[in-house]
Amino acid sequence: MRLGVHPATAKPCQGIKGEAALVQINNRLEALREAVDALRNGGKTLAFVPTMGALHEGHLTLVREAKKLADHVTVSIFVNPRQFGPNEDLDAYPRRLAADAALLEAEGVDLLWAPTVDVMYPQGYATNISVSGLDAVLCGAARPGHFDGVATVVCKLFNQVRPDFALFGEKDWQQLAIIRRMARDLDLSQPHVDRIIGVPTVREADGLAMSSRNQYLSAEEREQAAGLNRAMRKAIASIVGGSSVASALAALNDDVLASGFKSIDYADLRDAATLEELTAYDGRDARLLVAARIGSARLIDNMALA
Ligand code: PAF
Repeated sequence: MRLGVHPATAKPCQGIKGEAALVQINNRLEALREAVDALRNGGKTLAFVPTMGALHEGHLTLVREAKKLADHVTVSIFVNPRQFGPNEDLDAYPRRLAADAALLEAEGVDLLWAPTVDVMYPQGYATNISVSGLDAVLCGAARPGHFDGVATVVCKLFNQVRPDFALFGEKDWQQLAIIRRMARDLDLSQPHVDRIIGVPTVREADGLAMSSRNQYLSAEEREQAAGLNRAMRKAIASIVGGSSVASALAALNDDVLASGFKSIDYADLRDAATLEELTAYDGRDARLLVAARIGSARLIDNMALA
């Protein structure tokens, strides 16, 4: 299907044979709604991948999974100021809209929504969504307000795009849990909470979770960084095998530091949905979540207890 392009607001990329293959809408909500309606015409389904741009293989994996789920795929690129703290450099966040659009077009994405800050948060904007409790632990403890910013912008994006499915990487497990809780608590229907899909973390051959932060590692640190996932797998095996959570986490701390990490921000076993801390494993859906520092990078990872 080829979309009509809103003359004032949408910018088509040229696909093969000169056809408009990806429609890019940079600001007007009306144009987005028209484009979404055109995609949904005839009962077609829509999957949505929200991003902040600077796309890498992890994002493209989400797009490929989205294509399997629905007839059409929309991606948003919006560097959301509300999820950056005062000491986090919003201005330094990479912005590569043209290169990102080319990558999305090559993946066969139908629609790119790239709103400006003024469109997302017009003069007098006053509403905040806070998913209390889930936002205060793990990464939220060190980044007050961050997950309010995430929940608020994702709720707005859901209302703007009205997708059948939305896809998020499981690597940011806390973010995924917060978005699911927000969708459940607010009775969202587009997408319904059951159609908020977590896509498993893409890993390097040695188990390191793919992340844009891996580029900050020296060759030696990159090799040492594989120790994080190794230690996590060992801890999970020992908890599932009957060891106490406390002893498995203590061994994990030792193993991670021994492999070259300089500090550990947290290493917790938590309920996968509520993020409640678990001091004993009772067979429920649980995740081991770790954040640790190596060189100038802070790496996060999480895994299910199988
Ligand atoms: O994971 C991200 O890139 C962002 O937190 C998200 C979900 C796009 C909201 O800005």
